[in-house]
Amino acid sequence: MADVTSLKQRFVERFGGNASDISVFQAPGRVNLIGEHTDYNGGAVFPAALTFGTTLLIAPRQDGRLSFASTNFPYSLEISADDIAYADEHDWANYPKGIVWELARQGVGLSQGYSFLYHGEIPNGSGLSSSASIEVVTAYALLTLEGQPTDKIAIARWSQHAENEYIGVKCGIMDQFAVANGRKDHAILLDCDTLDYTLVPFRSGDYKIVISNTNKRRGLVDSKYNERRSECDRAVADLKGAVPDLALLGQLTPAQFESHQRLIENDTVRRRARHVIEEIDRVKQSMAVLGQDDLAAFGKLMNASHDSLRDLYEVTGKELDAMVDAARRVPGVLGARMTGAGFGGCTVSLVHRDSVERFKADVGREYEAKTGLRADFYVCDIGDGVREIKGGA
Ligand code: GLA
Repeated sequence: MADVTSLKQRFVERFGGNASDISVFQAPGRVNLIGEHTDYNGGAVFPAALTFGTTLLIAPRQDGRLSFASTNFPYSLEISADDIAYADEHDWANYPKGIVWELARQGVGLSQGYSFLYHGEIPNGSGLSSSASIEVVTAYALLTLEGQPTDKIAIARWSQHAENEYIGVKCGIMDQFAVANGRKDHAILLDCDTLDYTLVPFRSGDYKIVISNTNKRRGLVDSKYNERRSECDRAVADLKGAVPDLALLGQLTPAQFESHQRLIENDTVRRRARHVIEEIDRVKQSMAVLGQDDLAAFGKLMNASHDSLRDLYEVTGKELDAMVDAARRVPGVLGARMTGAGFGGCTVSLVHRDSVERFKADVGREYEAKTGLRADFYVCDIGDGVREIKGGA
């Protein structure tokens, strides 16, 4: 991640004080390998933390105020610690403010003021969870400095709640959970209903995880996302005729879904529900094939996931589809799919290490020819979740 020594210098230039008073925390971004649009349906997801994300430098201040600055954006904000209501004009600073607000709700008031300097390495709007990364690193840092327990499951829940209620984006828990609980070289199998999770070693052998950024601004993503959520709620309401205590689509087995799906009146809503049920099943199948190190079979499940997100859930769009089509044509690619909410953002592909250079060249060229947009590529390793960086390294 970032060069902490030079960030400390910037912090001192910005806020004064001594470098020795600064604490440093980092939280990663995330990529979801499979299990998309299942989290808010109480289904399974399989994300992994990245080795890049958000670095936070933070130091206490004597005047009780909160001062937020970033190396990424010119906008900065200084407020009194009890003036934390959401304000549009506070721009990105609403994310850390939302965490201060949430901690207060949880009974963790701040005993002093703080200066915050954020340094983000996740491209904005790329769907790699830059906002969850800011939320989780802020919660972890403030709890640490206030001498409170840093329970990472609570941090994930609280960060999601801040995003839902303070920012107003009705996301599920996957992003915050992965950013908080990630582990180097492991993906996280998470049951979003119970929050039971297993860290699964991700042994990709000769294959690399390649993230391709469509660089398509994700314009209507929040309203489309919320529309999908309400379509899932409608499916549950229709299915209650046969399964009265059904609360979330993810509680249905594929067999139950098949026998009752006709109760869902609207065709579109029925297709949305089918995606959710089959996608949760694909996560299950993924665990079976990965347990046998059968990456080729996992790649096929990734492809099937994208196709379902394209045809049934309709959250891909021409940029993501063009990127995935181009990726699948490169020899040495086992599978390619969109990752995250969709409507733009990134794809994830499993690419043989000898094919990575060709992948970037071919996919970049073909994608630009089709869309007029330039792609960016990140060859990823899987990193750790949120943590404190001691000793300035
Ligand atoms: C976004 C949301 C997540 C999840 C994904 C889709 O990343 O923040 O909660 O719903 O979309 O799987």
